[in-house]
Amino acid sequence: MPTDRISLCKIINFPVVTDYRGNLTFIEENKHVPFEIRRVYYLYDVPTGATRGGHAHINLEQVIIALSGSFEVIIDDGYKRKSVFLNRPHYGLYIPPGIWRELVNFSSNSVALVLASMPYDEKDYIRDYETFKKMSRGGFWDESDREVREKLNKLTREAK
Ligand code: TYD
Repeated sequence: MPTDRISLCKIINFPVVTDYRGNLTFIEENKHVPFEIRRVYYLYDVPTGATRGGHAHINLEQVIIALSGSFEVIIDDGYKRKSVFLNRPHYGLYIPPGIWRELVNFSSNSVALVLASMPYDEKDYIRDYETFKKMSRGGFWDESDREVREKLNKLTREAK
């Protein structure tokens, strides 16, 4: 029976402090994102029509933010696929372990900021879609999904 793993991908609305000088958004680990931030990277100068991503991660959690401009994140849990459009810097898309992602349709001058729960490790990547699908459908992330669900519930409770 297919699980609804894709529902673990959440849009997070970060705080915005607005005054006459403009807007300010801040992000604290384990508070606004459900993990410790161990790495930050960003994609920029992406040529029109280019696709980034095209992989899943074994353990890595990420939050993707359109710091400038816009792009779409296609997420796929091995059962379902959906597209999330990001175009404001106070929204982030949380992606737990075990989700295939592709970033497409970058507008000109867009910047994709990524907050990540682990340092870069090529061994954490799954770059073959069929391998990913088999792992997802075989229950590889069942335990991790339970932990993610608990963390997201806690985050929601504490944000209130
Ligand atoms: P990759 O993760 O495949 O990029 P994307 O998912 O955005 O399309 O990484 C591209 C290259 O950059 C790859 O050779 C590894 C390197 N890289 C690092 O060295 N450190 C990092 O933190 C990241 C994200 C990539």
